[in-house]
Amino acid sequence: MRRKLTVPTIADVYRAIPTPITAVAARVGEQDIAMVLSSFVALSDDPALVGISVKRGSSTWPLLREATSLGINILTGGHSGLIDSYSLPSHERLVGSTYRADAGAIIIADAPTSLVCHIEREIEMGDHIFVVLAVDNVLHDPKIGRPIVHHQRRVTELMEYQI
Ligand SMILES: Cc1cc2nc3c(=O)[nH]c(=O)nc-3n(C[C@H](O)[C@H](O)[C@H](O)COP(=O)(O)O)c2cc1C
Repeated sequence: MRRKLTVPTIADVYRAIPTPITAVAARVGEQDIAMVLSSFVALSDDPALVGISVKRGSSTWPLLREATSLGINILTGGHSGLIDSYSLPSHERLVGSTYRADAGAIIIADAPTSLVCHIEREIEMGDHIFVVLAVDNVLHDPKIGRPIVHHQRRVTELMEYQI
């Protein structure tokens, strides 16, 4: 009997690789706009540069990219309401969250790390746009909470062990 091979797609493979969950948020005109992203990556220490990858066709990115400053907030299990809001209109995603604006960048309360950034470069990468951002300010207190990760379309807590 022949066995049918199940070949994973590249998207299946990417989903199996854990990544942090962030909210990129800014005040644009009168509106406070956010987007949940799991594509955050730290790129460079000096200068301080980070990256995010945004799917082409996103309706929120064209608004966020107009902001003078962007907040990149590392989320915890306490931010599940914000994560669940990802499919709402971009100006409704922060309803119910506590946050403040810092030079246009939105800093979400109880995020252990928030980076105030400006866009350095946007690079077209296949079906995504890779955005390189320079870090202008850092709010960092790891005691505030533990970051979560995106894995197999689920939100997962980190496990710790001593090495
Ligand atoms: C946990 C999670 C991670 C996500 N990561 C990304 C990402 O890295 N890049 C992206 O373009 N969209 C990502 N999305 C989808 C966006 O949050 C958003 O829903 C999507 O871009 C469609 O909305 P828009 O048209 O307002 O941009 C993610 C959604 C969730 C729930």
